[in-house]
Parts: sequence; structure tokens; C-alpha cells
Amino acid sequence: MLVIRDLVKKYGNFTAVDHLNMHVERGQIYGFIGPNGAGKTTTMRIVATLLAPTSGYVEVDGVDLQKDPIKVREKIGYMPDFFGVYDNLKVMEYLDFYGSAYGIEYAQRRRIADDLLELVDLSDKKDAYVDTLSRGMKQRLCLARCLIHNPQLLILDEPASGMDPRARAEIKGILKELKRMGKTILISSHILAELSEICDCVGIIDRGKVVIQGSVDQIVQRMAGETVVRFRVLRDVDRAVKLLKEQPMVTGIVQEDLVLEIACKGTDEELWNLLRTLVNNEIPVISFNKVDGNLEHIFMEVTSDEEVVL
Ligand SMILES: Nc1ncnc2c1ncn2[C@@H]1O[C@H](COP(=O)(O)OP(=O)(O)OP(=O)(O)O)[C@@H](O)[C@H]1O
Ligand SMILES: [Mg+2]
Repeated sequence: MLVIRDLVKKYGNFTAVDHLNMHVERGQIYGFIGPNGAGKTTTMRIVATLLAPTSGYVEVDGVDLQKDPIKVREKIGYMPDFFGVYDNLKVMEYLDFYGSAYGIEYAQRRRIADDLLELVDLSDKKDAYVDTLSRGMKQRLCLARCLIHNPQLLILDEPASGMDPRARAEIKGILKELKRMGKTILISSHILAELSEICDCVGIIDRGKVVIQGSVDQIVQRMAGETVVRFRVLRDVDRAVKLLKEQPMVTGIVQEDLVLEIACKGTDEELWNLLRTLVNNEIPVISFNKVDGNLEHIFMEVTSDEEVVL
């Protein structure tokens, strides 16, 4: 549904998104997780066609974003991290306004708005002024707004930020419902644990790169105490990856340039055998060390910002 390849975004000399790769399957909820300043919003704004990338390729449902951004806009619903709501409008008028902006005919958009208000549990606020809504209600209204044209891909930038636990649980319920309706959802957060329960796939981003990506199960496996080994090769990294994939004890591989991080099961003896296999195959390994194999540790290892909240 969403393919991002080698995406780069520079602000002047500063690289906010650095050769980022990502793949979101149709119908998935993909958790985009990273510390403040990692590049989540920048990436999402690019996918939402609001920001031009410096280089790289983005495809939404088979459509090349650079070639046909209008077509992409029809397919996506974007909920920004900071959203303005027009204070002098009532809830229904607000949705109606956006519906008309998408060219939806009057009777139909009223019907859609009714359904959406029910979905986000705001039916009884139809005639309330938007500025009288609580923050959580405004967030739900924004979610309804970005669904008005029935998009297939939702891009939600920290939709639950600033919400109390009950409101967060409600948002999660709505997201599950949207998934049941067949939507694909890309959702960002800097709180890993919060997303892990609803996401099919999680990508952790730091300094503009996706540093680890996998299904929640794969990552949970790591939490269950698998060994994670990081090593660096001088060259032949592709051959090393191929070789590692053939090893039954290796359950996951993350590659960043010449550094490989692998998750594996097995004793230290077996680990030594693994290293020996690499060396016997002329892979020039120049460092090889174990890191603690739990998710938090991986998160802290792969990100470097001290403000990370887990
Ligand atoms: N318009 C801009 N001009 C210059 N630098 C920018 C601009 N927008 C973002 N940046 C920088 O790009 C980096 C990535 O920012 P971004 O907003 O994408 O991060 P984020 O992952 O969404 O962070 P947060 O969790 O705080 O929302 C940051 O270092 C930020 O300062
Ligand atoms: Mg952000």
C-alpha cells in the first residue's frame, strides 16, 4: 500500500530524513516510532504530499507520488500533529466544509458525516461549536475529518498525544474498527508500548532512518530474551546477509551500511560457530559483540536521544 525507498529530506544542510526505507502492506496498522526530532512528521508530511522530498521514491497504492500527487491525495487521509479547527463552526458544519472541499455532493456528505460522527462517538455533539469540544473530542473530530473522502491509507501523526488513558483506549478502539473496515494505517508515536498492542508492524526511526522494522511478534520474540549480536564487516555485506539468512539460529537481520544486527537463538557455543561460518566464508568481520536482546534495549541502542519515552 505504501512503499518508501531511499527517501531523503534536507532542510538546508540538515538531513531530517536520511535514505529511509519503509513498506506498509495493505490492511496493516504500521507503528512509526521514534524519539522527538527523529523525522516522523517530516516523512508523514512528504507522504501526505505537503512537503517535497529532496530525493527518493514514494508510492501509494501503486501511484508514484511525485508523478501524480493529486491521485495520491484521493487515496490518503492525513491527520497532522498540530491541527487547526475552525472555532466558529459547528461540528457538522466542519465536516460538511471538508466534504465539500473534496467535491462530495451535499446529501451524500451529510450521510457520511453522520456515519463518521457515530464512528468517533461524537453524534451527540453534532450541533456543538468546535471550540467547545475537549482536546480529545477535537482529535476524534479531526480523525473523522480525514476519513470523509473514504481514503484507503490513513496517516495519523501522534493522534493520541495529550490524551488521558481512557481517551487513548477509545482511539485504539476506533483504529481497530478502521482496520476491520479494511483501511491501512500509518501511525506515529514516541511511545513504543502504546502502539505495540494494535500494530501489525513496527518501524523504529532515529535520525531519519528506520533502524529496525518487523512484525510485533518478531520484536516481542526479542523481548523474550533472544540474543542480539551486532557486527561490522569490511565489505561483502550482501554476501554476509545471504549467508546469515541460511542459518536456522538467525531469526532477524537489520542492516545499516556495513553494520549488521542479528537476532538469534542459541548458546554461546553456537554463536561462536556462527562467527566461524562467516569467517570460513571469507566474510571480513571486524567486530562482533552481543547486545542485550530486549525491545527497550534495542530501542535505546538504535536511538540515541535521551528523551526517549518507553
Ligand atoms: N521546517 C523545518 N526547517 C528546518 N528543520 C526542520 C523543519 N522541520 C523539521 N525540522 C527538523 O527535522 C528534524 C525532524 O523533525 P520531525 O518534526 O520530522 O521529527 P518528529 O520525529 O516528528 O519529532 P516529534 O516526535 O518531536 O514530533 C528535527 O531535527 C527538526 O528540527
Ligand atoms: Mg512529529
